[in-house]
Amino acid sequence: MAVVIDGKAKAASVIETVRKAAEGLAQQAGVKPGLAVVIVGNDPASHAYVNSKSKTAKECGFKSVQHTLPEETTQAELEALVATLNADASLHGILVQLPLPGHLNSDTVIQSILPEKDVDGLSVLNAGKLATGDLETGLISCTPAGSMLLVRSIHGDDLSGLNAVVIGRSNLFGKPMGQLLLNANATVTMAHSRTKDLAAVCKSADILVAAVGRPQMVKGDWVKPGATVIDVGINRIPAPEKGEGKSRLVGDVAYDEASAVAAAITPVPGGVGPMTIAMLMANTVIAAHRAVG
Ligand code: GUN
Repeated sequence: MAVVIDGKAKAASVIETVRKAAEGLAQQAGVKPGLAVVIVGNDPASHAYVNSKSKTAKECGFKSVQHTLPEETTQAELEALVATLNADASLHGILVQLPLPGHLNSDTVIQSILPEKDVDGLSVLNAGKLATGDLETGLISCTPAGSMLLVRSIHGDDLSGLNAVVIGRSNLFGKPMGQLLLNANATVTMAHSRTKDLAAVCKSADILVAAVGRPQMVKGDWVKPGATVIDVGINRIPAPEKGEGKSRLVGDVAYDEASAVAAAITPVPGGVGPMTIAMLMANTVIAAHRAVG
């Protein structure tokens, strides 16, 4: 059976480091890191994530501000709010929770966030820095950065000679994850919905990263024996065995099957999920440090 990669424990240790860094910043420079989280609309899962982000920010000793806007918010209203947050020197990080309601243009909103406050790493400047191998001066997208820490906990910093397959090519996860793996010298394949014989491609992976948003899509016989499996999916599915109307969270990987084949695997929940929040806190304290100079 595979080693279970404990994202919850790793995230707790990152958060403790961030809390101490925030304390140091307060003592040395009199500055409290500030994080603003913006959510538009009523999606219950998004609300749960955002509440968790705001709560963790407080636990880290940050100034934590949450803006909850109604579904019918206009593009101009949302961009006006981002402009206000950009101009607020007490805020070092701004996160607009995605997805936004369909009538809003996410790209325009995200690109209106100042790159130095873009703790999601989604601005063209931050994404471009990562793509050109500058991992030092920008901000890196939280879920890939957190997934990479989990990969490193198994393989160390140098992935030379290892084949990594990332399923999913989003700006928020797949693309930056591919860049991080490449930067660590892995041989990277980006797979997606148009990939031919996805099962065979996955089976070539020493490190298999699944971010497709389809419950339990990656089967046990897609996994190379001895592989490391990083499951980025968080899918809610019905769980009639738990009672009428009950549901449970599963990843993009068929966990029981895959863990019988892999050498190491992240669980859902308790794997990548907690790392996203921890890295958001890390990005915010980094942004605050840079603002102090
Ligand atoms: N929605 C799901 N994950 C994320 C994330 O990491 N950042 C933002 N902004 N929205 C998300």
